Amino acid sequence: MKRYHLTTFGCQMNEHDSERMKGMLESLGYAEASERAQADVILFNTCSIRETADSRFLSHLGEAKRLKREQPQRIVGVGGCWAQSVKEEVFERFPFVDVAFGPGQVPKLAEFLTSDSVTAQGYFEFEGFTGRLPARRARPFQGWLQISVGCNCSCSYCIVPSTRGREVSRPPAELVAEVAAMAAEGVREVTLLGQNVNSYGRDLTTKASAGQRPERTSFAELLGRLDAIEGIERIRYTSPHPKDMREDVIRAHAELPSVCEHIHLPLQSGSSRMLKAMRRTYDRGRYLDRVALIREHVPDASLTTDIIVGFPGETEEDFDETLEVVEEVGYDAAFTFIFSPRRGTSAADITDGVVPHPVKVERMERLLELVQRKARERAERFVGRTVEVLVEGASRTDPDRLRGRTRHNKVVNFTGLAAPGELAHVEVLAATSQTLSGEERLLARSGSLPAR
Ligand code: 5AD
Ligand code: SF4
Repeated sequence: MKRYHLTTFGCQMNEHDSERMKGMLESLGYAEASERAQADVILFNTCSIRETADSRFLSHLGEAKRLKREQPQRIVGVGGCWAQSVKEEVFERFPFVDVAFGPGQVPKLAEFLTSDSVTAQGYFEFEGFTGRLPARRARPFQGWLQISVGCNCSCSYCIVPSTRGREVSRPPAELVAEVAAMAAEGVREVTLLGQNVNSYGRDLTTKASAGQRPERTSFAELLGRLDAIEGIERIRYTSPHPKDMREDVIRAHAELPSVCEHIHLPLQSGSSRMLKAMRRTYDRGRYLDRVALIREHVPDASLTTDIIVGFPGETEEDFDETLEVVEEVGYDAAFTFIFSPRRGTSAADITDGVVPHPVKVERMERLLELVQRKARERAERFVGRTVEVLVEGASRTDPDRLRGRTRHNKVVNFTGLAAPGELAHVEVLAATSQTLSGEERLLARSGSLPAR
């Protein structure tokens, strides 16, 4: 039996795509190799979001080159966003690569592997959804649901619109059927994925003729339809855009039992001037209005965010405004990034006001300190509470303890007897900025939880 090895970089959409790639390869009769050196097909699902992502991948590619030299019949394949961003150039720069494909072209890998072609092939058109391929889930009780592909935004720093194309939503009936099938297979938590999830459905046309249900469905309506599926206990989604965070979506968090009390709301900058330069289409005031509306409907919700430091033109005053918003919102966690110019994006061409690297680093340190202090303060509110934890497995630091996540998306390490996939009640005894720690309380476990 032939074996493959796949290394995944980047976001949850890439993790999803990799699960589908694995499902596809296994349906072709390939088995997964635990080590790259044992594989007949060496694959990479790549990311290009920042320069660090590129360089991390390129160091792995060096090993693939060596392995291919040792056994030239091996196949080396590169998929995903980095492949899409360099396209055919990949074969000039890395002649040992046999096949390259963008994120919209995963099925072409199967075509390549089943054909007799010996020459290098590249596939970079956008078509179809990887979500339609068979999945090989990393954990049987958690599933990804690709609700849309692509992005119609034009954030000036972001490479994604060029690597994943225009936004296309999958039909709601197909998504409902997929989640019902997941639930039947034992999935309890589903994470909806899209580059901009809450603009879902705008591209779907209305087909209300012949007594059919209209196909046009908003993101909030989709949440309602998925919440109604028996067996799905938790619904999450990533990433939404603040401009599309409408009241109906926020209400879904308050009203639908399975929609978790966690919203990832990427801020990027707290300065309206910078937000304009980033082409985010909201300003500081509108962002804070959204936060206020979330706090009104779901007072205890966890909020997390993404922030870019050192965008060209960012002054000390702009950066202070970001710090103010972080202070005011009180995020439960934040991902912070140093601006990195990406090929083909308009921000990469800005030459005025480029922030020197040491200044970026110094701002990053100040931001991180504040983010961690706020996260620690926020985490304190859970101490003394008994929270519902979906058990994922053994704790990474202590194999005698368990690890799982709360509905607020906090990682909890705890002492207990629950099995992976079960919902446990855990009393939180301590909190740091990153994790909670506690003990399982043996109330009713698993399927028989009392109504929330
Ligand atoms: N430089 C730095 N950070 C970036 N991000 C996206 N593009 C860039 C870039 N060119 C960050 C944004 C986004 C997250 C996924 O990555 O904060 O929300
Ligand atoms: Fe990386 Fe963005 Fe592509 Fe995800 S969509 S893999 S974060 S470049």
